[in-house]
This record gives sequence, C-alpha cells and structure tokens, in this order.
Amino acid sequence: MAKGRHSRYPPRKSSSWTMLIFSMFLVLLFVVLFILGIVSLPSSNPSKSHRGHDLSSIAHTSVHRDNSIGRNEDKSEGWVEVISWEPRAFIYHNFLSKEECEYLIELAKPHMQHSTVVDSETGKSKDSRVRTSSGTFLARGRDRIIRGIERQIADFTFIPVEHGEGLQILHYEVGQKYEPHYDYFQDDFNTKNGGQRIATVLMYLSDVEEGGETIFPSAKGNFTAVPYWNELSECGKGGLSVKPKIGDALLFWSMKPDATSDSSSLHGGCPVIKGNKWSSTKWLRVNEYKV
Ligand SMILES: *[C@@H]1O[C@H](CO)[C@@H](O)[C@H](O)[C@H]1NC(C)=O
Repeated sequence: MAKGRHSRYPPRKSSSWTMLIFSMFLVLLFVVLFILGIVSLPSSNPSKSHRGHDLSSIAHTSVHRDNSIGRNEDKSEGWVEVISWEPRAFIYHNFLSKEECEYLIELAKPHMQHSTVVDSETGKSKDSRVRTSSGTFLARGRDRIIRGIERQIADFTFIPVEHGEGLQILHYEVGQKYEPHYDYFQDDFNTKNGGQRIATVLMYLSDVEEGGETIFPSAKGNFTAVPYWNELSECGKGGLSVKPKIGDALLFWSMKPDATSDSSSLHGGCPVIKGNKWSSTKWLRVNEYKV
C-alpha cells in the first residue's frame, strides 16, 4: 500500500518545495518593489490621494516656480475660477506677479507697432479698423522669465509649451478696441504650421480704470449675474465680460472637446474709456508650432 502510494505520487514532495520557494520569491519581490516605491499600499490619508485632483495644488506648484520675479514680495495666492462653460472659459487669478507684468511691458515698449489682423485670403497681415491697438511679439523661449511664464501657461492649459505661438503684447489707449472675432482660422494657409488654434490665454498686464473689458457676446448663461455688473461699460454689458485686473489670466477654448470650432468663443476688447490697457496673448495650437 505504502509502496503503491509512494509510486503513485512521486513528485508531490518536490512540488510543494517548489511552491514554497516560489511563494517566498513572490513575497521577496513584493518587498523589494515596495521599498523601491513601485507598489504602494492603499493609503488611509485622504488628503494625500485627494491632492492630485485639487486645482489649488496646480496653482500652488505653478506659483512657486523658480524662475519667477517678484513672487516673494507678492503674497497674493493663485486660484482658478470657472466663468463659463459655453464658451469654456476660466480665470486664473494672480497668474503673473506685478514685476512680471512690468517686465513684459518694458521689453515690448520699444517695438510697439500698429496692430494688424490676418487676411483670410492671403494669410498675410493687414491693417484693420476692427483692431486699433498697437502690439509686438516676443519670441517663444526668449529668456528665463518668459520661459517661466510659458511653463506656467502649459501647467494651466495642459498644452505643451511647443504648441504655443510667440507671446503677443498689446497696448490699448483711450478709444482703442478690438471688435468681436474668433481666434480659430477659417483658411488653410494659417493652419499649415501647428494646425488650428485650440485655446487662448489672455493675460492682463495692467488694471483699466474704465472700459477695456474682454467680452464674449455669444456666451450662454446669465451674464448680468457677475458681481461687477454695475462697474461695466456700455459695451461690457453686451455679453459675458471680464474686467481687466493686473496679473490675472483668462483662458478660453476656441475648439470644443469633439475638435469642432466653438462659435460661442466669439470675443472682443471693449473700447478703453479711462486709463490704458496692456495685455499679453498666448495662442495655443493643436500641434507643435515651429518657430
Ligand atoms: C440673472 O441674474 C440676475 C442677478 O443675479 C437676476 O436678478 C436675474 O433674475 C437673473 N435672470 C435670469 C433670467 O435668471
């Protein structure tokens, strides 16, 4: 009997040894991976796992970047506000420090030229009555400060730095404006490099005493409900308006998530009534934009 059993299950002893060694190997492997940080146990600390989805954590990590100027003196916190879902528009409050705003203005000042718009037939720039401001372009990655700002725009929009056009600096004096328009192209010429414009980040480099609002005339929703409604100019009351505030950045999307153009992204700059307005625009493309 014993002999028969022995002969019937000869590999049993060696197989249990193999299993034991194999399980010890698995335990060891897990311990090593755990030490290396590749595997982690479920955490009981809710604040840690929650942080990744918290907008304020994005703001915090971006605001405390190394190559910024004036951040230490400027204690104002960055925070993001959703202002509209049609168009998709967000304000990042205190995006730039006062020193960064002044730095951009001083860089641009000697090069300001009368603004043009893009001709949809030739793709070339042309003078226009719909846009009466003056402006200039600062090349992408031009210096340390600008690279820092462009890095922060990428953090805010989740669009890589390489998809951005140069930084445009604009100056509007009393009476100057930009009539409502779309930022996306309706021609094939301008989309050759980088593809369609997907989103725009508009940074206010100065306060404006009166007028100069950014207006979305086709925005859906109750635009009279904004807390600053009574401070808006006549033009500003014609749609959803954003009052320029130094350091704030407005992000809006020209394309919907299904990659079609969003006609509710129609926007303009109201005439400045009192004071003057400095702003900076960063257009972001669907693909890499080669400089
Ligand atoms: C829009 O908002 C204003 C201010 O909060 C309110 O008085 C008004 O009734 C609202 N209109 C609609 C149509 O909801």
